[in-house]
Amino acid sequence: MKMTSIRSLRLLCLLPFVTGLTWFSAAAQPRPVPNPQLASKDLNARVDALLNKMTLDEKVGQLVQFSAGYATGPGASNLKYDELAAKGQVGSMLNVVGAEATNHYQHIAVEKSRLHIPILFGQDVIHGHRTTFPVPLAVAASWDPEAAETVAHFGAVEARADGIPWVFSPMVDIARDPRWGRIIESSGEDPYLGSAMARAWVKGYQQGDLGKPDSAAVSVKHFAAYGGAIAGRDYNAVDMGEITLRQVYLEPYRAAVEAGAATLMSSFNTINGIPASANAFTLTQILRKEWGFDGFVVSDWGAVAELINHSIGDGPTVARKALVAGVDMDMEGNLYGTVIASQVRSGKISEGVVDEAVRRILRVKFALGLFDHPYTAQGPAYDATPERRAAARKVADETFVLLKNDPVEGVGALLPLAAKAKKVALIGPLADNQRELLGAWAVTGDPKYVVTLRSALAERLGDRLLYAQGCDFLSGEDANVLKRVSFSGPDAADAHLPIPDDAKTIAEAVKTAKQADVAILALGESTNWMEGEASSRTTLGFTGAQQQLLEAVVATGKPVILVVLAGRPLELKWAANHVPAILEAWSPGVEAGHAVADVLFGDVNPSGKLPASLPRAVGQEPLYYAQLPTGRPAHGDLSHLPQNAGEKFMSRYMDEENSALYPFGWGLSYTRFSYAQPTISRAEVPVREVLGSHSKPVTTVGVDVRNTGSVAGTEVVQLYLRNTAASVEQPVRELKGFARVTLAPGEQKRVEFPLGFDELNFYNAEIKRTVEPTTYKIWVGGSSLATAEASLQVVE
Ligand code: BGC
Repeated sequence: MKMTSIRSLRLLCLLPFVTGLTWFSAAAQPRPVPNPQLASKDLNARVDALLNKMTLDEKVGQLVQFSAGYATGPGASNLKYDELAAKGQVGSMLNVVGAEATNHYQHIAVEKSRLHIPILFGQDVIHGHRTTFPVPLAVAASWDPEAAETVAHFGAVEARADGIPWVFSPMVDIARDPRWGRIIESSGEDPYLGSAMARAWVKGYQQGDLGKPDSAAVSVKHFAAYGGAIAGRDYNAVDMGEITLRQVYLEPYRAAVEAGAATLMSSFNTINGIPASANAFTLTQILRKEWGFDGFVVSDWGAVAELINHSIGDGPTVARKALVAGVDMDMEGNLYGTVIASQVRSGKISEGVVDEAVRRILRVKFALGLFDHPYTAQGPAYDATPERRAAARKVADETFVLLKNDPVEGVGALLPLAAKAKKVALIGPLADNQRELLGAWAVTGDPKYVVTLRSALAERLGDRLLYAQGCDFLSGEDANVLKRVSFSGPDAADAHLPIPDDAKTIAEAVKTAKQADVAILALGESTNWMEGEASSRTTLGFTGAQQQLLEAVVATGKPVILVVLAGRPLELKWAANHVPAILEAWSPGVEAGHAVADVLFGDVNPSGKLPASLPRAVGQEPLYYAQLPTGRPAHGDLSHLPQNAGEKFMSRYMDEENSALYPFGWGLSYTRFSYAQPTISRAEVPVREVLGSHSKPVTTVGVDVRNTGSVAGTEVVQLYLRNTAASVEQPVRELKGFARVTLAPGEQKRVEFPLGFDELNFYNAEIKRTVEPTTYKIWVGGSSLATAEASLQVVE
């Protein structure tokens, strides 16, 4: 927009009720919300009293975090941590796990350092700590914030028992491109669902009280917009308009901050040319001034030192830029510890900047009660307790998405498999592999606790279960990929896998399938090697010989059920065309086998819904339902192309449809749900009322949902809306409400969705949240394809 038009917009703002063109109200802008725990007067008095006694070197020591034990990033520092801790120069450590290891350093810090300041131990607790739950993307597929809360709560309990009061979770990055391996750690593509999940993760870890012995402070990551990496390549630049940044990518962070998040982690990427770890606009202007965040920010691993690679200065310069911008703690970069004090002494940085960062860190240490209880009691060795296993199974049960369950001639729908089911052939590299079923980024989980699909199905079927691995994740020509991956973690030894003989193992699998009445294929990708950080892909199909295996088993003519086990949306087009039943089961964690069996056998009716669109082809990525409209929307399918020139010059691909293979929000059930016509309590609302309402609803959409099938089931009822006449173009649909509803056969319930400023607002050209006179189209249903329609007029 040209300057002149911005200026004229500003003028018009003075006259909104006269012109009706630009509507925003200062009162409607979100206000900073201080975290009561960190803002308490007593706590801040203790912080200031301690700060007054600290030397500059001791202050800088608080800004430093080291990894000891093992590395979760490149270039680990390997320093003499005992000596540094005794001098008060280690504010925090990561990758030190267990009472014994954490107490070792804590005793030194508390007993030998001059001011006895405890170390804050942090750790990646991504989907559980010792008890591994489904990966976060799967948890989002439950559309059940309570499930996220459960996973977070047990993660905190177990982390605390291991001496860790601070978890590097949740990751709230919006992920719209499954080429990016870290989509597995996210809640998927949507800011509304992502925000609901962000709040739940924070609540589960922190329990609204950092002082509880089983609460852990969160580190919400990776601030900001890390998921917007260009071309889905990890660590790549992010370039997007400020409206998209705020309205889509920043929303879940804001939700987490409002939920009381104690810390945030700054990301590796640049945002519109300015590295996120030296970005005063996001770290200070938005995070602190607009949102009122009063916790601290830790950099991602080495992200401060990596600013040198971003070419924004030498070591001292980038350290100064990061600190001044608002990165309070340097994770494993060892740059703050070596260059900040001298820059203060030479007058390049004011000591006040250091003081403020120290204050923020000490506040969290005090709030966690570390000064009063610095040590961790040596507990019994971890055991997979029945309570935690039951919780992991219940969460996993909710995360599976039934993508397809078409009837097979002469058999009917394959799922659920009756308990008395005939002979079943279980085939695939994910059927019996404990490590792979645990999922990516489970450094403290132990594969030996994982129940595989093979063992769980054997519990039910005994010798009616036949098994063949079929193939490995990588075939001859690409097995070398593993060797190219330089990973120094505990699994490095696995890199020298023997090259599999696919032809032989596929032939064995075909033979096994022929002996059975139905084949279950457990396919996906190596969660250990191909998912998570630094695991971007340019293809999204099954790796290795898995596709050949699938086609060979389908060719036997035996009915096939495909169970997809992967932490990212895969390209399933061939399967969707040739396989009658497909269950998306993600990476389910320790209770993988039991949970998959629960759903396959119908003890649990699947209720998960996709948190990210499944593409028809990788070339559609980034693919998400909340696209902005174009002037040339495509209609119909490709069969129109040769005959209808009107369809040629449309926003579409020549060789593929625009739509997802399975869209956001999609998921079937063993029963059916019907939706009545939605009603709206007030179909017309004055704009002034909406603007003044803050979070209070101004109208309510209600819909009757009925279970029309013969078994009980849970439906995730979703509300989408479209602003049809906004001053800034809005997406074709946006999720603005959802509810999980459990219905007995024949039962009907009314579901109500309140709408107010929070649901109706958007950012205008002045980067202010606003609501204008317009018509909102509203749809309610079981996916982003919902058709039951209502509308709301916002009038002058
Ligand atoms: C990752 C973070 C993680 C940190 C510490 C980084 O490489 O991006 O998500 O918390 O390492 O392990």
